[in-house]
Amino acid sequence: MQSCRQFVVQLIRSVALLAIFSATAAQAVEKRNLIIDTDPGADDVVALLLALASPEELNVMAITTVAGNVRIDKTSRNARLAREWAGREEVPVYAGAGRPLVRTPIYAENIHGKEGLPGVEVHEPKKGLAEGNAVQYLVDTLKKAAPHSITIAMLGPQTNLALALVQAPEITQGIKEVVVMGGAHFNGGNITPVAEFNLYADPDAAKVVLASGVKLTYVPLDVTHKILTSEQRLRQIEALNNQAGKLVGNILNEYVKADMVHYGLPGGPVHDASVIAWLLKPELFTGKQINLVIDSREGPGFGQTVADWYDTLGQNKNVFWVENGDAQGFFDLLTQRLARLK
Ligand code: BDR
Ligand code: CA
Repeated sequence: MQSCRQFVVQLIRSVALLAIFSATAAQAVEKRNLIIDTDPGADDVVALLLALASPEELNVMAITTVAGNVRIDKTSRNARLAREWAGREEVPVYAGAGRPLVRTPIYAENIHGKEGLPGVEVHEPKKGLAEGNAVQYLVDTLKKAAPHSITIAMLGPQTNLALALVQAPEITQGIKEVVVMGGAHFNGGNITPVAEFNLYADPDAAKVVLASGVKLTYVPLDVTHKILTSEQRLRQIEALNNQAGKLVGNILNEYVKADMVHYGLPGGPVHDASVIAWLLKPELFTGKQINLVIDSREGPGFGQTVADWYDTLGQNKNVFWVENGDAQGFFDLLTQRLARLK
């Protein structure tokens, strides 16, 4: 009798364990539908390679480009280069906005070089742009998408999504969440004492996205300035001895120089790649839900993200603000994924 009861208890435990295991496994393999909106840019290219090397977790539906680090023709060319280097030519690249919503365009050639890609030779990729415009692609795709099924990674100024939201506010129905590389609070800015480049380049667009009420995560300088290259970390990437490892090694060796000098840092940040790492391995990061206001008034606060980290004003908590990250974990993930490319 006793042994029969024990058997039944054991059986129930095993079934429960099996159910938990299957649920976890199902979660682990569930693919995220992803659109990457980007202005490549050195760190954007690293982010694209990381995403395109991660097909188990990320279904990259399209890459949409925007003017930012360099002009739109060059950001679109560089996005196509990243796609070619990753061997993922089936992913369409749509060119989008060539200028911000309201303000005068700015570029970051001083950091990313004239071609927007330091440390490597650029060429015209074999495969061209997809027909149509990035903004229209966003509108059409998000309108017909299953409810809250598509994630958007925003790696540059948020102009394309803002234009799409103005044209068709109902597209929020298709958005699962938006993950932004941008903003700065504890760290201070990188283009003015208080503003980060992507927000400064088009604060009006960022305000439209914020006001749309979509689920938003910000990956600001507060965290990206804690995830720095080091000689050892770059060596581990170069030691892969494949094309991707060499390209990323060359790009980063050149890209980080200016930041190391300007901030007196021992290494340089790879900002945009942290957004992809957050999507792949959120456990590498910590942050919390806070209230965010974006300043777009002319003056010294232009482009600033006013992040109420301590809930001083008790306002609605409208973004998840990522504040810290596991730097070695990030570089191990990047190295491991780059190893899969040619
Ligand atoms: C951000 O600005 C750009 O220069 C980088 O690509 C990144 O998206 C960092 O402030
Ligand atoms: Ca960028």
